[in-house]
Amino acid sequence: MADFGDKVVYQIYPKSFRDTNGDGFGDIPGVIEKLDYLQELGVDYLWLTPFFPSPQRDNGYDVADYRSISPQFGTMEDLENLIRQSRERGMGIMLDMVFNHTSTRHEWFQKALAGDEEYQNYYIFKEGTPDHAPTNWKSKFGGTAWEYVPELKKWYLHLYDVTQADLNWDNPGVREELKEILRFWKEKGIRAFRFDVINLVSKPGQMEDDFEGDGRRFYSDGPHIHAYLKELVKDAGIADFVTVGEMSSTSLEHCIRYSAPEEKELSMCFNFHHLKVDYKDGDKWALNPVDYKKLKELFVEWQTGMQEGGGWNALFWCNHDQPRIVSRMGNEGIYWKESAKMLAGMIHFMRGTPYIYQGEEIGMQNAHYPSIERYRDVESLNYYQILLEEGKTKEEALEILAARSRDNGRTPMQWNGERYGGFSGEEPWIPMSAAFRKEITVEAQQNDEDSVLAFYKKLIAMRKKYPVIAKGEISFLETETDLVLAYRRELGEQQMIVICNLDGRKQRVIVPGERSGWRILLENYKGREIPLEEMYTMEPYEFMVLGNVK
Ligand code: NOJ
Repeated sequence: MADFGDKVVYQIYPKSFRDTNGDGFGDIPGVIEKLDYLQELGVDYLWLTPFFPSPQRDNGYDVADYRSISPQFGTMEDLENLIRQSRERGMGIMLDMVFNHTSTRHEWFQKALAGDEEYQNYYIFKEGTPDHAPTNWKSKFGGTAWEYVPELKKWYLHLYDVTQADLNWDNPGVREELKEILRFWKEKGIRAFRFDVINLVSKPGQMEDDFEGDGRRFYSDGPHIHAYLKELVKDAGIADFVTVGEMSSTSLEHCIRYSAPEEKELSMCFNFHHLKVDYKDGDKWALNPVDYKKLKELFVEWQTGMQEGGGWNALFWCNHDQPRIVSRMGNEGIYWKESAKMLAGMIHFMRGTPYIYQGEEIGMQNAHYPSIERYRDVESLNYYQILLEEGKTKEEALEILAARSRDNGRTPMQWNGERYGGFSGEEPWIPMSAAFRKEITVEAQQNDEDSVLAFYKKLIAMRKKYPVIAKGEISFLETETDLVLAYRRELGEQQMIVICNLDGRKQRVIVPGERSGWRILLENYKGREIPLEEMYTMEPYEFMVLGNVK
């Protein structure tokens, strides 16, 4: 197993990162151009979301060919350059493998459609009549999860868009194809993989209607998932790679198994429970305030549970599917900077490997699009219609999208104060965030010691400097209110305490314990005193790390 406790991963959504050829669409040369910036930030791996040939119905998560590069993004030579130049700077490239489904444009699916039964068996086709889908399961992008092909008199399963057909992992030939793809990229010098919704790939042999939910309980962490992962990792020869599985609606027990080293499955897992604490009864498309009690409970459960079970967490707030965290749980107004830093610090000192999503390190905010025309994401466009059909007004539907759309995380990276943020000289494929302003750019923050960017650099540097962050035990401290989160990290004599005020009001806390020889290691307000045994008043979104480490 790879050693990854002190590593930090930076996620790049190439389409929105940097456009070098003026087509409004980010590209691989754009990533190369920014390698010095990334090296200076101090990150170890660059996770690039898919840049393979794709109809882009789901922005590249609909892969039509796993072994080449879409011309929109560049060439194989560009990628080879990127791998080499990253390596020279001490960074590895993490590829995003979308193995639950392929695009319906993939040649396997095309052969299946043409009547080739061998290839139909690559997917989940079921005989039937057009009036009756095999099950009542729902697609995660809205509507049914089945599509009828009249020429074949068969339905195929798509848990996502209708153009993303689910692969049949019960077919050993499919598993062999996927291993070959991994070997191909390994040969090219790739040393890390992210696996898209990997816990959904093992479907039940018998498929039945779900009268309680959308079907996910039958296929999430499905029947053969652990065996399939072990086989994939072993046969593709990637056991010593850094691997992260995206786990949809998963459980702690399964994530321990996915990531405990002795299981030889993956290095770590993404789970999303902490990003559903503002859903109403689990519904992403119904707004609710953040439930801080729940949020704390989830961190306690996953941090201590993974520790006890020997599993490993991927730590993250943001990615290309999530709204910006500072808009979601922080403050876009006068406490923008303090809250962006607090939220970052809160997870970076936990037990696990932190992921930073492009723009998070400068405190980028949500898109704040005023009209539906600005949105691009298939999920957002589908749900806009669904919300209208459910009787919401356009204003209400837009308000929901403004909070929940995946496009919030996909607006162009803000490098400088130019019209298109230095992302491109031409109009980008997706509009800039309406909250784009000069302060929230790399250029403005690069030479400012007090910036959000400088804070992220400190977080990364501290992880490398103090083994207690990478290897220490974690335990949570009792606080008077759910609006304060506090935890301790310990490694032998070395100790740290992290305290976060999650709220925009002052909070009173007691931080118990003897503090002689301790000092403040990091804070987001200047000149604060080390809290003593008595009550301590925290400023809005205040964050502090205390410790006795040398
Ligand atoms: C998870 C990816 O992060 C998301 O962007 C995509 O739409 C789905 N998986 C389907 O591939």
